[in-house]
Amino acid sequence: MPVTCLEPGDLGPAAADCVFEALASRPKPVIGVATGSSPSPLYQALAASRRDFSSAAWFALDEYVGLPEGHPESYAEVLRREIIDPLGLDPRTVHLPNPHTGDHQAACARYEQQIVEAGGIDLQILGIGRNGHLAFNEPGGALDSRTRLETLTEDTRTANQRFFDSLEDVPTHCLTQGLGTILDARHLLLIVQGAGKAEALRAALQGPVSPDCPASVLQLHGRVTVLADAAAASLL
Ligand code: GLP
Repeated sequence: MPVTCLEPGDLGPAAADCVFEALASRPKPVIGVATGSSPSPLYQALAASRRDFSSAAWFALDEYVGLPEGHPESYAEVLRREIIDPLGLDPRTVHLPNPHTGDHQAACARYEQQIVEAGGIDLQILGIGRNGHLAFNEPGGALDSRTRLETLTEDTRTANQRFFDSLEDVPTHCLTQGLGTILDARHLLLIVQGAGKAEALRAALQGPVSPDCPASVLQLHGRVTVLADAAAASLL
């Protein structure tokens, strides 16, 4: 799988070009958005472009379960700060799996349905976890999973502790698009930065396709763009 290795400062603009292409691909394009640090340069580049994003719908990869509505680290709030406000989006065009309904199974089924009704995802923006997770699909799960309730591993909770006061405050569960859901997107865009992701990226792209490395499913997709900095690409 081809990997484009870029200076860290060039990742955002290069990724933005993929978004612009998807936005032009049909009248009502659908963009899948990730949270975490990896896509931040992309969102900054989109905001700097001052384009009109009003034709698009946006679907998040995942959301924590157990945080009160409006919690600053809920992905609903992260996306408000990262894309809704900076890109001037109508909040009604930005969708997340809803962890507040009391029926996670129904909420996940509804989310899958919403994606289908929107016409499917044209471009899915992705980061990779240092244990190879995609969205919140942790190692060991099925490679064709759909949106569902998932238990977060200790490794992921520790990695995300930086956004919370303590490890105890990091949620233990989430709702996440499945690997099968992600693979349904027409184009996948993986953004990877830093030496801490180098081994995960190597396993994802050059290791066996295996539940041990959920991101290895990228090898099953016909259209993947990988943008990495030199540190992240150092083991390829
Ligand atoms: C998070 C998110 C993922 C993200 C990944 C990497 O926990 N659920 O969607 O891609 O882990 O995060 P980061 O980009 O901050 O390293």
